Amino acid sequence: MARPGSPRPDDLSGLDRVAGPQHYNHETSDNHPKRRDPMPLSVPASVKGCLVAAPTPQPAPNPRPARSRSSARIGTITRGTTAPNRLRRVDRWLAGPQAFRLRRAADPLVVDLGYGATPVTAVELLQRLSVVRTDVEVVGIEIDPARVDGARPLERPGLSFRLGGFEVPLDGGRRPTVVRAFNVLRQYDESEVDGAWRVTVARLAPGGLLVDGTCDEIGRLATWVAVTPEAGPTSLTLSVRLGSLDVPSQVAERLPKVLIHRNVPGEPVHALLRELDGAWSRAAPIGAFGVRQRWAAAVSDVRSRGWPVLDGPSRWRLGELTVAWAAVAPR
Ligand SMILES: C[S@@+](CC[C@H](N)C(=O)[O-])C[C@H]1O[C@@H](n2cnc3c(N)ncnc32)[C@H](O)[C@@H]1O
Repeated sequence: MARPGSPRPDDLSGLDRVAGPQHYNHETSDNHPKRRDPMPLSVPASVKGCLVAAPTPQPAPNPRPARSRSSARIGTITRGTTAPNRLRRVDRWLAGPQAFRLRRAADPLVVDLGYGATPVTAVELLQRLSVVRTDVEVVGIEIDPARVDGARPLERPGLSFRLGGFEVPLDGGRRPTVVRAFNVLRQYDESEVDGAWRVTVARLAPGGLLVDGTCDEIGRLATWVAVTPEAGPTSLTLSVRLGSLDVPSQVAERLPKVLIHRNVPGEPVHALLRELDGAWSRAAPIGAFGVRQRWAAAVSDVRSRGWPVLDGPSRWRLGELTVAWAAVAPR
């Protein structure tokens, strides 16, 4: 149910007022209890060099050490390229197999970290997750002040924008259940990923999830790593538009930063992609029944060869594959 007096969550009106370069694509969708932080909210050395333009420190009335460090924005302004609908694959996953996190959340708060030159994907995220929880709230956080100013006309009940970085600043110490950071870390150095993950994950609610992912310009190839406060990185998901896929290893060019330089012999993710390519080739005869069946057969083949596949046929039919992180973590 929509909030009384508020625009529909899919109302994109006002986007034309948002400044900045836009790359449009109209491809249709194919579809607080207190806790002990397992990872300390400190600034790891690997991201310290990224601190930008911190506001002049003000003495807080009740200083809390863990928050005082976060008054600095952690990260760097990068290219703001985005496009409508390009994040549909990860949104479908968040609203599907990961929906339980929002359903059971005391505070159904979701952060779109690094939404880019226009907030279109944040608007879409609210729309898609409203199906899971009508009271979901999306906060778009950007490290570029101009992009925050440009997004503010789109604010409405359930959707707001603010300045910040990996430290995920939120009022009143609120903790998000989901942080979606798409095409953000890809513009950082590989050595900065672990530190960024630690800072961001430390802000999550218990049972929360960080998705750090990458996709192509129009969202046909997408991959993401799931990171939780309890277990760190837990899985890698590949999600591809099957109708335009030549070979599964095409997705290598859109691996998350933590893996994109690891598609080389001797690295587990390289072995996975080779295995998938082989299985895809062996499944060619099944292509007569459709590309979805071919993908499902290929993934089933990969699983039978010992890869820890975490999902099942209902996701495979969508062009997805999720494997345990331990099987693909860089050596
Ligand atoms: C390529 S755009 C991605 C836009 C959108 N997420 C998408 O995938 O279409 C990356 C955006 O992340 C922002 N960014 C980079 N580092 C950030 C950080 N640490 N915190 C918040 N935003 C960040 C950049 O300023 C840029 O606007």
